[in-house]
Amino acid sequence: MSPAGPAWPRLRVLQTLWALLVVLLAPWRLWAIKNTQECTWQVVLNNFETVGKKDASDRFVDQEPLYTVDKVFSQLVDAPIDPDEVRGLVSGKRERSWTCTPLGSGHLPTLSLQTYLGFPYYLKINYSCKGESSEALVRKGHLTGLKPVVLVTFQSPVNFHRWKIEQLQIQMEAAPFRSRERCNAEEVCLMSWYTPMPIKNGSVVMRVDVSSNGLGPFIPNKRFQVNINGFLERQRDNTLQFTVGNELFNLIPRYFVNVPSRPLWYTVDQAPVFILGGIPEEKAILLTDTNFKDFFLVELSIDSCWVGSFYCPQTSFTATIYDAIATESTLFIRQNQLIYYFTGTYTTLHESNRGSGRWVRVLANECIKKLCPVHFHSNGSEYVMALTTGKHEGYVHFGTITDGRVSFELLPRQRSVCSGILVVNCSITWAVFIAGDYNLLLLVEIEDPSTRKYFQVVSYDLVSDYLVVLYTIPEFIPDARGLEFLMVLGTESYTNFPMVPKGMSYNPYNNLLFIWGNFLLQSYNSKNFIYLADFPKELSIKYLVNSFYGDTAIVTETEEIWYLLEGSYQVYKLFPSKGWEVHVSLQVMQQSSLYAPNETMVTLFYEDHGLYQLVYLIDNQQGRLVKRLVPVEQLLMYQQISNDYLLERQGSHLTLSFTNFCPFTVMRLRDLPNPQIYTRQERYRAQPPRVLEPGGFHSDNSLAVYQGLVYYLLWLHSKYDKPYADPVHDPTWRWWKNKKQDQVRGEGGESVGGPSPDPPSPSPCPGTVFAPHPVPQDYYFYLASNWRSAGSVHVDMASYEKIYDLKAENELPERIFLDKGTSYRFSVFLTAREPEPLHGPSFQLQSKVGLAVVLADPECIEAVVKEEVLVNRNSVLFWVTLSDKRFCFDQGISGHHLMKTSMLLKVVGSSGHCFQNTNQGPRMWLCMENSPCHDTIPHSIFASEFFFKVLVSNRCQPACSLVW
Ligand SMILES: *[C@@H]1O[C@H](CO)[C@@H](O)[C@H](O)[C@H]1NC(C)=O
Ligand SMILES: *[C@@H]1O[C@H](CO)[C@@H](O)[C@H](O)[C@H]1NC(C)=O
Ligand SMILES: *[C@@H]1O[C@H](CO)[C@@H](O)[C@H](O)[C@H]1NC(C)=O
Ligand SMILES: *[C@@H]1O[C@H](CO)[C@@H](O)[C@H](O)[C@H]1NC(C)=O
Repeated sequence: MSPAGPAWPRLRVLQTLWALLVVLLAPWRLWAIKNTQECTWQVVLNNFETVGKKDASDRFVDQEPLYTVDKVFSQLVDAPIDPDEVRGLVSGKRERSWTCTPLGSGHLPTLSLQTYLGFPYYLKINYSCKGESSEALVRKGHLTGLKPVVLVTFQSPVNFHRWKIEQLQIQMEAAPFRSRERCNAEEVCLMSWYTPMPIKNGSVVMRVDVSSNGLGPFIPNKRFQVNINGFLERQRDNTLQFTVGNELFNLIPRYFVNVPSRPLWYTVDQAPVFILGGIPEEKAILLTDTNFKDFFLVELSIDSCWVGSFYCPQTSFTATIYDAIATESTLFIRQNQLIYYFTGTYTTLHESNRGSGRWVRVLANECIKKLCPVHFHSNGSEYVMALTTGKHEGYVHFGTITDGRVSFELLPRQRSVCSGILVVNCSITWAVFIAGDYNLLLLVEIEDPSTRKYFQVVSYDLVSDYLVVLYTIPEFIPDARGLEFLMVLGTESYTNFPMVPKGMSYNPYNNLLFIWGNFLLQSYNSKNFIYLADFPKELSIKYLVNSFYGDTAIVTETEEIWYLLEGSYQVYKLFPSKGWEVHVSLQVMQQSSLYAPNETMVTLFYEDHGLYQLVYLIDNQQGRLVKRLVPVEQLLMYQQISNDYLLERQGSHLTLSFTNFCPFTVMRLRDLPNPQIYTRQERYRAQPPRVLEPGGFHSDNSLAVYQGLVYYLLWLHSKYDKPYADPVHDPTWRWWKNKKQDQVRGEGGESVGGPSPDPPSPSPCPGTVFAPHPVPQDYYFYLASNWRSAGSVHVDMASYEKIYDLKAENELPERIFLDKGTSYRFSVFLTAREPEPLHGPSFQLQSKVGLAVVLADPECIEAVVKEEVLVNRNSVLFWVTLSDKRFCFDQGISGHHLMKTSMLLKVVGSSGHCFQNTNQGPRMWLCMENSPCHDTIPHSIFASEFFFKVLVSNRCQPACSLVW
């Protein structure tokens, strides 16, 4: 357990207060807190030619494997790779039958035909710490044994009809490498670490998590987005050029200053490149392949022609790109009434389709007034919706993108929405596609000569063509009479403020639908709505940004930022606010480069759990665009503190005290099951080949060997991965089987290293003997004799393996897959705020802390909470079991058509009152990893709420119960 545990949250809050006090009273003292270094990882992409070059950095454009590593491998005395298989790889042979190497046959003969492949890029890794020479630091880190560990997570593809769905990760230890820059003063001047950057068929979005091996300085883990950019092409002189237009290098203030912010639209988790329009009077977009860590301004190669027509009575013409949506491989834009798309070159996705090559104008005869995004892919495709005006008023153009091919269908199929709901004139102002139900929700404005203008929510079923009015939006804003929220029944009283709906937003994980405008209505069933009264009717919402982890940010027409925790009814103003002022003054005092007196927000978006702003700053007449975190939790905390604090005189000085409303002091997740069987995450591990160089530095050759080995490891995975947890079906088994057999022979035919696979597996090679996995034998630390001539590299086969037994890390996985009839169980440990007398009755404790569970789809899954009171520890342990009820049957087979759902756990009474500071900052050192106070809690805004994503599949049990 954790002896220091119960005290720390209070300690932390006091620390926060102290920092605040320091700011208020004596700004200079702030530096005292910052005596610890703040270090951070840096990662860039390098290709084979730029390895070891200072400041070299590449874009992820090339997607084909390289033969570069071949000449290195050919020097190996004893190839670590089975030449037969490599030959198959090159000749295009898809399957190789299992061959049996008879015992005693020795090593395979070296074949002249063999060719080894590698990935085209490396990741270059280093770190920097504020205020210190980075070069010396990196050197110091290396000398004290620091090694970056890189975990690459491949996003599984949209089209599961073409590519297998899998959750694949590869964990690689980085290899130190000396820079090529000449340096006389010291033996090592500049160095960094390298790993291969693997590519996988079907994946264009990769997450790279960098962590440390635990030695050397403390550097917090950092995540990088390393995505393929299919909108660039390599010129003959090796420079890169955009295919979508020409890059502009001048960020003129006019493009950004006081320009309204706009939403960033893309297919969640799938889009490798984001685009953003809205640059006034320019057919230019911002384009990024790093979630705006960096970006380009590109003038699009479209001819901005526009001809007004009887059917398309546009009032004005502009070059501005209004709506921009990015999908896995295709970009969509709207300019005036015209829409265009561009499919990038993604050979990893569709090797025959080389992209559209140019902007393609679609729906040429239509008058498009708006594009609406579809945030999630489904059924192997992505979708966009184009709302039309003029002759096709009352219809939606429903776009489907499959493998980069775009097609549109006019919906409803039979008759227009207006005639479907029996009105003469209507106009669709927003559309939401609910993929799980093949259902469109339409926000329809009805103008009837006999009545006033009003709005309805209409549902259209794509399969049955059925159209129905779900809800008629009240004409006026309800009068909440001081309540936080109001169930809209029609019987309540109303103000005389008209309700002006503008859009809708839907979260498929909790079925929460918002209708927004100068109000916020929310509903879990699209029929009964709740009015959230915290949001003032004088403001008008411009767009919502959903994290799909349970929180939503709101941007108003006046560029205010509000925040809502889904499932609760409070709406908080983040900007402008007192909390924001405190935050900005703290940042300015720390000379942060991310804040300036003159700034314009360009967009607001979520990345993982964090809310980010893209802002245009002007300082010293210099304009620049920066991405910065909006520390929601901190802002709310500053706000709460500034409302609730009390200055008390204690002796000669003032102290700050405040009321803490949080009902508990410690919360911990416990007893979490090992994750892999639920997350279906498959993870491989790879280490660089060993080198004999005294400094441990690698050479071009040893890095090339590393490339080849990682390539081969993933190739084996793609060929031989089978959904059983049997060593023979471990793809890497093929790697070491011959060596294993040699060893077995050497030891008299007995298998070594533990019990045989149980039950005995059907061997593909009858008569052979193999030992179970794993095989960390010295034997495989193999070839001390190998490759002496070629640079002293040792290849240790045991360094390349599949990991089956990942442990839970005291936090809920990002999401789980719940197979038919299975359950997921864990516990939540809570210590109540006030210490109870040791002999106190337990019901007092129970009444203090309670746990509530909110299920998004209670007809499909159920949750059972059992409570165990630990009286003498003033704590309660809640056992939570989440189970599939075997009730929902249309999810199809093996991971297709999964049902998205979620569970929300809440500690009763804690919303808005409990905070956990997970931000990196001065206070974080208080709570180092592995220290007792490091309670890993999901990084949600309110520490006491967990948003837990569940994907329910209909997969069989128990036949597949081993390991996927
Ligand atoms: C670390 O990497 C970054 C990005 O490539 C580079 O700008 C910086 O110069 C590197 N620092 C050192 C000391 O190599
Ligand atoms: C799902 O995708 C398949 C293959 O592309 C297609 O044939 C089918 O019609 C789609 N189903 C729906 C309901 O759109
Ligand atoms: C911000 O910049 C704009 C454009 O340069 C300028 O007109 C405005 O006066 C500036 N505002 C402040 C507060 O500096
Ligand atoms: C990727 O897909 C292509 C085309 O289907 C195939 O030729 C190639 O072998 C695949 N590569 C891997 C590593 O699976």
